[in-house]
Amino acid sequence: MAAPVTKDQELELHVDSLAYGGNGVARLNGFVVFVRRGLPGDTVRARVTKVKRSHAEALAVEVLEPGPQRVDAPCAHYPACGGCRFQDLAYDAQVAAKEAQVADALRRIGGLAEPPLEPIIPAESIFHYRNKLEYSFTQTPAGAALGFHKAGRWDEVLEIERCWLTTDLGNAIRDAVRDWAREERLPAYDQETHEGYLRHLVFREGRNTGQALVQLVTAPGERFEREQFVEVLRRFPEVRAIHWAVNETPAEVTNLPTTLLWGEDAIEEELCGLRFRVRPNAFLQTNTAMAERLYELAGEYAAMTGQETVYDLYCGIGTIGLSLADKALTVWGVEVSEESVACALENADLNGITNAAFFAGEVGQSLAELQERAGDPDVVVVDPPRAGLSGKALRRIGRLEPKRIVYVSCNPTTLASNVKELGTAWGYRLERVRPVDMFPHTPHIEAVALLTRA
Ligand SMILES: C[S@@+](CC[C@H](N)C(=O)[O-])C[C@H]1O[C@@H](n2cnc3c(N)ncnc32)[C@H](O)[C@@H]1O
Repeated sequence: MAAPVTKDQELELHVDSLAYGGNGVARLNGFVVFVRRGLPGDTVRARVTKVKRSHAEALAVEVLEPGPQRVDAPCAHYPACGGCRFQDLAYDAQVAAKEAQVADALRRIGGLAEPPLEPIIPAESIFHYRNKLEYSFTQTPAGAALGFHKAGRWDEVLEIERCWLTTDLGNAIRDAVRDWAREERLPAYDQETHEGYLRHLVFREGRNTGQALVQLVTAPGERFEREQFVEVLRRFPEVRAIHWAVNETPAEVTNLPTTLLWGEDAIEEELCGLRFRVRPNAFLQTNTAMAERLYELAGEYAAMTGQETVYDLYCGIGTIGLSLADKALTVWGVEVSEESVACALENADLNGITNAAFFAGEVGQSLAELQERAGDPDVVVVDPPRAGLSGKALRRIGRLEPKRIVYVSCNPTTLASNVKELGTAWGYRLERVRPVDMFPHTPHIEAVALLTRA
């Protein structure tokens, strides 16, 4: 049957709920239309942007009647800035929507009629929670400026005067670097023409230690005085590490080898009572306070007695494994980023932990060798990227037959499909699952799940 709408058609729609990814869900005689910028309870005028057989996509161009949970967004850059999607939705409604999305994914994709869902843990702070920001440079008539990509635009950057997701320090450092760039008359890199010089500014902050790391990313060539840049940043006593990276490719990336301009090569963060060294390219959960809640929940689900062999797969800088080490016999971490593994090894030493070892490698390819060294695991913790467990990694984990799999997920749809396969192919049952809101005002959802073998 043909879709009942056409591209560019304008429709009046009532938005019922939020879908995973952040679009509102409306129905036109049963036909689903995903409405960008539509919030639950809104009646909107929306323009159809894409039509498929099963559904259409539309953009809300006018809110005809706001839903009851709409609130005023505090940030002056909202909604033009691509950093936040839901500053105008009451926080209670945000977390309710996220909880419903996890349940929906487990039902629809995971095939579980009644998923054992526990109530979402809301964020402790709904603003100023991020410990890492990646700003892009852009050229303005006044000179170089720093900001974020405009919502839905890869090619346009919006200058930011105050970001509500970082701290006063994160905002002040961005402004100081912008002023420095203007004084030095350094041009921003242009993503279309590939001309210009300044590309990104990365700011990381140990929220429990007060230590900050700054990384400048430029196009090739040394076109600035190192001492001057360092002097600007050393006015902030929190700054402990200043790095510079050169991006030789057109790709907009910041994960690059760095040159240390001043200070320590890493900063420290404290999580669950342990110290963690964090280098510029190492992974760290971006909401420190909620990372602690997430790891506590993973520990609760792991239910250790002190006798367990634990695999910490996709271990990053070792945060989960090291926080479980005092309740385990041994902990074995695997992680693809060598920089993160170097941090994990240092972090074990830093905390005097002697029963944990970490290895660089792909999870799917490393498990057979790990099993030879470490023996069979009792508990396997996995914390994969958004794509979830690859077929090979999942099969290898299934073959290990651990009693418990603690799955830390940043994508409920891949969690749900992995849960289904772990159930049908390997006999695992989903016992508990609990979403944790690490990222208020954004569509991202974190969840911890416990699977056990029947
Ligand atoms: C969501 S992070 C989790 C890190 C850590 N557990 C934490 O909480 O900080 C996922 C990690 O998996 C790593 N990774 C991605 N693909 C991988 C693979 N195929 N094998 C091993 N590690 C991988 C990434 O480098 C990243 O550090």
